[in-house]
Amino acid sequence: MKIGIVGATGEVGRAMIKVLEDFKVPVKELKLFASKKSSGKILTFNDEKIIVEELTEDAMKLKYDFLLFSAGSDVSKKFAPIAAKYGNIVIDNSSAFRMNKDIPLVVPEINGYLLNNYKGIIANPNCSTIQMVLSLYKVHEKFGIDEIFVSTYQAVSGAGYKAIAELQKQLNGENITSVFPKQIAYNVIPLIGDITVDGFSTEEYKMINETRKILNDYTIKVFPTTVRVPVFYGHSEAVVVKTKIPFKEISSIENEIKNSKDVIFSDEVITPIEIAGTDYVYVSRLRKIDESRFAFWNVADNIRVGAATNAIRILMVMAGLS
Ligand SMILES: NC(=O)c1ccc[n+]([C@@H]2O[C@H](COP(=O)([O-])OP(=O)(O)OC[C@H]3O[C@@H](n4cnc5c(N)ncnc54)[C@H](OP(=O)(O)O)[C@@H]3O)[C@@H](O)[C@H]2O)c1
Repeated sequence: MKIGIVGATGEVGRAMIKVLEDFKVPVKELKLFASKKSSGKILTFNDEKIIVEELTEDAMKLKYDFLLFSAGSDVSKKFAPIAAKYGNIVIDNSSAFRMNKDIPLVVPEINGYLLNNYKGIIANPNCSTIQMVLSLYKVHEKFGIDEIFVSTYQAVSGAGYKAIAELQKQLNGENITSVFPKQIAYNVIPLIGDITVDGFSTEEYKMINETRKILNDYTIKVFPTTVRVPVFYGHSEAVVVKTKIPFKEISSIENEIKNSKDVIFSDEVITPIEIAGTDYVYVSRLRKIDESRFAFWNVADNIRVGAATNAIRILMVMAGLS
């Protein structure tokens, strides 16, 4: 297979290279693209050194089996349609096309069937949304989800490599604030994205809208509070769910979570540092509130499960590899 990664030098791009290796995807040729300033950098894939190239329109007109985009919305909006026009399959990590009704928004374990005979641009959901719907899709199938209240504890890596450097510098005593609106070291920031007219942030709207689209149920009410915390890798979520059909015993919810693909249920307390670098969502601290409401703690590696691994899982389904 010939694969291209756009945004290869970024947090998600580098993780995509690693996941392709880890999942032993049979790649014959890998092309790596980034901005002009990274042109000439060398990255390694399966012990092979690959030179990063500047992204150009002409490069998108060539033939690939898959192009994986993770260079932000503006880059996707400009280059992904060109690649698709020239017959390429694009798996896009940005928010550019997620809510476009003609573009599938895919978590393969949940709605991978949308990929059957599909060609063109496929959208990868937001990191916080992916891990939440993975833990809840079986519960939704059985009991129907009415409402979700979720507070997120999102790692700085979710904002890219510059954000990681900013936390590291602040921890080293430097007084710089550029990626985040306030100091993130030793702090929490209860705002990700921009505040919209009704007070919810753009990041919170991603969770609201994408959850409904992926679970294909526009009656689900989602009330998120998205918070940035000084953790390098791994998003956590405190989730409270109300079901349409009473589940009565919490063991019924536990069973559905245990039946969910790529989700691990645990009786231990799971924290982000323990699961960074893995490809599963971890559910712990499950508890009953009443016969139709329950709460749990949900943790996953945002760069892998929330971005790179989901994209490679899409690729593998489309390539007939899983
Ligand atoms: N981090 C996450 O948890 C996460 C999760 C889900 C989705 N996403 C999405 O994935 C995308 C990338 O995120 P990230 O965290 O990997 O960001 P990042 O670490 O900041 O990396 C950005 C990448 O995009 C490249 N890039 C920037 N401007 C470009 C341009 N004009 N032309 C070509 N390449 C350009 C950068 O190249 P240079 O190195 O040359 O600057 C770098 O490779 C974003 O859309 C983000 O919303 C991220």
